[in-house]
Order: sequence, then structure tokens, then C-alpha cells
Amino acid sequence: MSVPMTTNEIRAKYLEYFKKNGHIIVPSSSLVPENDATTLFTGSGMQPMVPYLLGQPHPLGKVITDSQKCFRAQDIEEVGDNRHTTFFEMLGNWSFGDYFKEGQITMMWKFLIEELKLDPSRLYFTCFKGNDELGISRDNFSAEHWQKLYKEKGIEVSIGENPEVDGIVGNQHIFYYGEKKNWWSRTGVPANMPEGEPGGPDSEMFFDFDPENKNKIHENSKYKENLCHPNCDCGRYVEIGNNVFMQYKKVGNKFEELPQQNVDFGGGLERISSAVNDDEDIFNLDVFDEAKKILIEKSRKGYGADEKITFAMRVILDHLRAVTFLIGDGIVPGNKDQMYFVRRLVRRAVRFARDLGINESFTKDVAQTFIDTYKNEYKNLEEKREVILSELEKEESKFRTTLEKGIKQFEKITKTVVVTPNTQTLKISIPKPTVITGIEAFDLLQSYGFPLEVTEELAKERGVTVDIEEFERLKEEHSQNSRTASVGKFKGGLGGDGEMETKYHTATHLLHQALRTVLGDTVVQKGSNITPERLRFDFAYDEKMTDVQKKKVEDLINEQIKKSLPVIREDISIDEAKARGAMGLFTDKYGEKVSVYRIGEGKNRGDANLFSIEMCGGPHVENIGTLGTFKIIKEEAVSQGVRRIKAVLE
Ligand code: ALA
Repeated sequence: MSVPMTTNEIRAKYLEYFKKNGHIIVPSSSLVPENDATTLFTGSGMQPMVPYLLGQPHPLGKVITDSQKCFRAQDIEEVGDNRHTTFFEMLGNWSFGDYFKEGQITMMWKFLIEELKLDPSRLYFTCFKGNDELGISRDNFSAEHWQKLYKEKGIEVSIGENPEVDGIVGNQHIFYYGEKKNWWSRTGVPANMPEGEPGGPDSEMFFDFDPENKNKIHENSKYKENLCHPNCDCGRYVEIGNNVFMQYKKVGNKFEELPQQNVDFGGGLERISSAVNDDEDIFNLDVFDEAKKILIEKSRKGYGADEKITFAMRVILDHLRAVTFLIGDGIVPGNKDQMYFVRRLVRRAVRFARDLGINESFTKDVAQTFIDTYKNEYKNLEEKREVILSELEKEESKFRTTLEKGIKQFEKITKTVVVTPNTQTLKISIPKPTVITGIEAFDLLQSYGFPLEVTEELAKERGVTVDIEEFERLKEEHSQNSRTASVGKFKGGLGGDGEMETKYHTATHLLHQALRTVLGDTVVQKGSNITPERLRFDFAYDEKMTDVQKKKVEDLINEQIKKSLPVIREDISIDEAKARGAMGLFTDKYGEKVSVYRIGEGKNRGDANLFSIEMCGGPHVENIGTLGTFKIIKEEAVSQGVRRIKAVLE
């Protein structure tokens, strides 16, 4: 039986354990990824490790461990149940070409059983079934190794071949699943992986929170039609960690072996902590205790009193913990990019606090508790304490002044039926609302600061729908700049909108080269940022670009797109990259080898059939013929000597 432990104790135990096993402990990277324009937030422990998984030597050696701060914006709507959070810590350990399956699985088993003292009968493991088309065989080794480790403890378990159809039969504790469940890459299943992306089969670990099925989850739940198995979403089995055998990279439609066999382990610290403490509600973890007390005190309502209260408290606890860390990493509430998420999270927390009857300042007090809980592990929180508190205070009071008015306006809207949904809107006041028009939703945003999802949630509670399409169109019309605040943005990461982001990423290389051709070689990239809707590119240059220059840049890029030039990636030494004229910042950060992307067949800068050669981590499209038409929508100064271009692909 496991003994209760605090979350901080479990983190320390994990890092110590891997240190004992030869690993170097590295600090968490920022929640804002460095040099990675493809994603807004760090959403997994491996993100900062990609170059080393691809073969660059890590300066600290081949085996390292950490606890990485992660933020997954795409999970925002899942928050409210007992196990989803937007912010979490991912415990990680990596082997860059050192130990592989046997070493990882054995170490992990011992950690779970001997260090955390979890009961093996409550653990379940899954392995990759294999896929002939991809040329990747079934991971018998991992399945049999877990089985062997059980046996060493005197426990006979068997392996389930088809859990989605058969459920769990007899003493099965190990199961095979296909690539939807047991394959991991930043972009998900093999088919979604861009060229050069690393990935591999994985073996996941689950904890059974309801071994006697005491909650009879399937009897009165939406899952009652389904057989329960480790990957069932009913909440009985919760994934507590994932051992990824990062061994391949995508080349065309197939996979090639990476130069080394890597391990990428990621385990949700909070979920592991829930398992150790045998309480499936993540929001009952010690790290939320003090924050919860404040909510209970201010609302005079108990956590768990009823569904609505529990839901609201979970959303607030999750969102305010996330913004504490996000502001700690330098992202303040605002209207663009990462900043807009912080704004939305704070506003959503304030709106849910209203459901609890909290109508006074509270975000600051809640954030204080998170700073205190985490300050030893994340020193920047203490350093940034004042900024975190004052930014929260500002954003909360700004929203609160309009919240009540906005809700009144909302109530007014939902008491009307829209007869003609255009600018000449005619409303008849009858109490049977059906839809909130885009104009009304947009007005709630503009005049009352209601992010779309706040309007949507209020609407849902009243059984009303929102015309999101019209809302989006109006917002688009209103300002090119407000593009970044679209629904798509909330998805984050490479998933979903990944394809568009990849296109913009390649377009950035085309733009970089075109600017140098038109304005001269003094143009140097200073930064870039990509969303599914546009690219932004900052570069060193002293003057405003003329219309003629902008047109030349556009034409040059569109000419290349018409030629359908291929994008080719090569991993070469820094010296060779320099000799061949590749653009990029060659700093000490990079190891011996770098990835270079060429657009066109030629090998070296200056070759007639080579348009661009640039050092970069990818991902990129395979051929620029798919990009569409490149168009500059804005060119402006950002600071002395630095210009910014915003451009779209149409
Ligand atoms: N990178 C793996 C994950 O995030 C471990 O699940």
C-alpha cells in the first residue's frame, strides 16, 4: 500500500531516484518555448529536448531528468472534471541513445512499486500493436517485459490483444493498442507527423482508481454502452505516465530510424500524486489546499457541495494556478498571442467566481497561495511575486467593472428572438430565445470584454446557441490584428491547426530570403511568430519599405511557389552549413550537427536552382507548391532599426 505523500515530496523522490540512477537533474524550461515558432506554449517535457532526440549531443550527457512546467490550452474545456488541468508538471527522464526499453521499463516499475509503493494489482500497462503499412512491428518486448516484472513479484498476469472489443478478461494487466493510443509524437498519430518529426511507439501506465468498481461508473454513465478498459474515458483508469521509445523520424510516408534509440518519459506529477494518495480528484491534492480554503471562505460554500459549485471551484483553481505560472514566465494579460490566453483564463475565473457568489477581489489571494506552495521548486515565482499579484489585480478589476453590466446585457439578449439577423436587426421581446447573433456576441466582447467562450458558456447554461461563424467574420472584419484571438488559437500546439502553421513556417524562410534579395544582405531575422492565421517576421533594417519593395518581395515569393520547389532537409555539421551559406544564428547552443532546410534542388547559396538555405528545427511542408498566395498585410517599425512584417497565405 502506498503511503500519503505531498506533491512536492513526490517530485523530489522522482528526481532523486533518477539521479541515483545516473541522471543529471535539469531545471524546467519556460512555459514559452524558445526558438520554436510552431507552438505557443511548452506542452510536454520533451519539447525543449527535440534537438537532442534528433541526435545533437546534450551538453550534460546522455541521461537527464527534470520536472517540466506544461500548459495545454487545448484542454481548457475539459477542466471541471476530476482529472483535467491546463497547467501541470510533467516528470521527465530521457535517454539520448543510452538505455532503451528494458532499462526504462525496469526503472519505472521499481519507481512505482518500490519508491511510491503503488499496488501492482492496481496498475495497467499498454503497448503498441504494430502497423505493417508503416513497417513498424508490434512491441512484444515491452509487453513481455512488464509481464516478467510482475512475475518477479510472484504475480501472474496475462496480455490482452483486443481490449477495445473484449474489455479486460481474467488477470490481464497488459494490453496492445494501435497508433491512436500507443504512438507518440508532438503532432500525434503517424499520418499527422510532418517530415523530419521524431516519434515512436510508447508504453503507457495506468492506475485503477476504482478496483472494485464501487462507483459502478458504467451503470449510470454515458459510457454504459461501452466495455471498460484502460483507455476508456470513464475516469476509472487514469494514465499516470508514458514511456515513449523515440526511435523514428518521418521521411515521406515512412519512418526511418533516428541515429540513436531514445527514451522520452513523461508522467503527470499531479496524477501520480493522486494515485499515491488514492484520491481520484486532482483538486484534492495538497497543492490546492490553501487556494481552496480561500474560495471556501469567500464564498461560504463547501468544495463538493454540489456539481455547479465543484465545477466552478475546479475551473478557478486550475486557471489561477496556470496564470500564476504564466505571468511568472513573463506573459501578462493582453490582446495578442500568449497574452490573450492569460486574459481569458483570468476572466473565465472571475466569471465562475460569480457562480460561487464571490463578487470581491480574490484572484490575488489565490495566487499568493500558489506562489507559496511552489516557490522552492520554481524560484522565479518568488522573484515575480509583485508582478503576478499586480497584473492579476489589474485584470480582475478591469473585467469586474464590466462583468455585471455585460451579464445584464446578456440577459437582455437572451430574452429576445432575432428575426432578421443582419445589421437592421429587428428584435421582438418574447421569452423564447434560440440564438445569440454574431453581432451580439461581438458586442459582448467589444463593450464588456466577454471572451467568446464566456458568452458560449452563459448561452449553454440557458440552452441558447451562438452564431460563431458570424462572430468570427465580424471580428475578422473589425481588425486584421484581432485575428490572433480566434477560436483556433485556443487549440494551441501543433495539433489541428498544425498544417497551416507548418505552411507559415516554410513561408517565413521564403520571406527571409526574399527580403535579402530585395533589400540586401544586411537584412537579418530578429524574431518570428506564427499562428494558424498569419506569420509575423521581425528583421533588422533601417527604413520603412516602399510599396514597390513590398510588391517585389511578394512577387518573388509567389514566383517560387508557382515553381513548386521541394523543401529538403539535411543534418550537417555547423562548418558545412556555414560553408554552404546557410542562414541562421550560429551560437554555442547548437551541438556538432544542425538541421538545414533547402528550398530548391541546389546545394549551396548562389546555386541557380536554390532559393533558400537556412538552419532550422522544422517542421516544413514537403513542397512549397501547396502554400497558396503570399501577401504582406502590414509593414511597420517595432523598435529602432527593427521592422516587422505581417503576412498571410491566401
Ligand atoms: N512526450 C510524452 C508525452 O508528452 C512523454 O506524453
